[in-house]
Amino acid sequence: MSASDARLERLIAPVADGMARMREILVRQVAERSHAVADMTGHVGRFRGKQLRGALVLLAGDATGNSTDEHPAIAAIVEMIHLATLVHDDVLDGADVRRRVATVHQRWDNQVAVLLGDFLYARAFALSTDLSSRLASRALAEATRRICVGEIEQSTLRYDFELTDERCESIAGAKTATLYAAACELGARYPGGREEIGQELWQYGLEIGLAFQIVDDCLDVVGEESVVGKSVGNDVEDGKVTLPVLHAYRAADAATQARIREIYTQPGLAHRVQLLRSACDLLGGVESAMARAQQLTVRARARVAALPDSPARSALEDLSEYVLERRW
Ligand code: IPE
Ligand code: IPE
Ligand code: MG
Ligand code: MG
Repeated sequence: MSASDARLERLIAPVADGMARMREILVRQVAERSHAVADMTGHVGRFRGKQLRGALVLLAGDATGNSTDEHPAIAAIVEMIHLATLVHDDVLDGADVRRRVATVHQRWDNQVAVLLGDFLYARAFALSTDLSSRLASRALAEATRRICVGEIEQSTLRYDFELTDERCESIAGAKTATLYAAACELGARYPGGREEIGQELWQYGLEIGLAFQIVDDCLDVVGEESVVGKSVGNDVEDGKVTLPVLHAYRAADAATQARIREIYTQPGLAHRVQLLRSACDLLGGVESAMARAQQLTVRARARVAALPDSPARSALEDLSEYVLERRW
């Protein structure tokens, strides 16, 4: 086990019981009599991810003294929404590998993947209506809306090298950080009230989630598929101009910039990310994007420092390091 995997295990340990309940709920919630659907939910259920967003609901609850019996269900809803976004995202990105196995659209087809994503959203929101407060369904419907907006905006801004850092971050913030923010906010304030602490934890989640996506964008250009566990190089293949590429592009001279644009746009090129690595200082771009991610995690960490000392608070602090060192 790598040092970063050991850190992940340690930081989830304070909420191990809640995580176990969350997993039981997840299995129950996606159960379906249709063999075809069961085959697919079995496929996505067997290969689980890091479950960081679900863990954050529970950790934020514990760290702020707000855990309720319903927190594991909220964590399960958050993970179901996350999974639905992944199933759809892999269709959009044409990715072949997710969580070390074939993506749903690769194993079956696009039609089925779109429908399975819809099925997961429906199950997630159905479960949210069973909760005693509407706070979770409201916050998660809003987060889902923002994820869709982020993915749509990203799609319309492909191949745009004039993108500012702010724009790039607002897309990453929408498509990824909002679910982190909602998970943390709900952990801290579900079933209601506690607006101030909810706001602080929302900001913590937003900064952690943004850093998480920046690191993800770096892993896409310099990571290995066998380690990251999902398709890499896809952002370049799909025309997504992410923060590390943008920083490498800005640092390049005019001829190199023209070459970068050509690598992105020329039809029929193979292994674009490798071409990019030899055409420009991609590692320099990664270093500069990672510096930004680190700045965000330092800010996030400071937001939880004033909470009472507890294993859950330490885990929230450690998560800021984990996000930077993760390799998958
Ligand atoms: C992947 O998220 C999608 C992004 C927002 C980059 P995770 O890396 O948390 O995915 P799993 O759930 O662990 O597979
Ligand atoms: C997508 O970002 C984030 C979602 C909202 C699903 P990416 O496209 O970078 O996620 P990966 O790399 O496919 O996991
Ligand atoms: Mg993707
Ligand atoms: Mg990615």
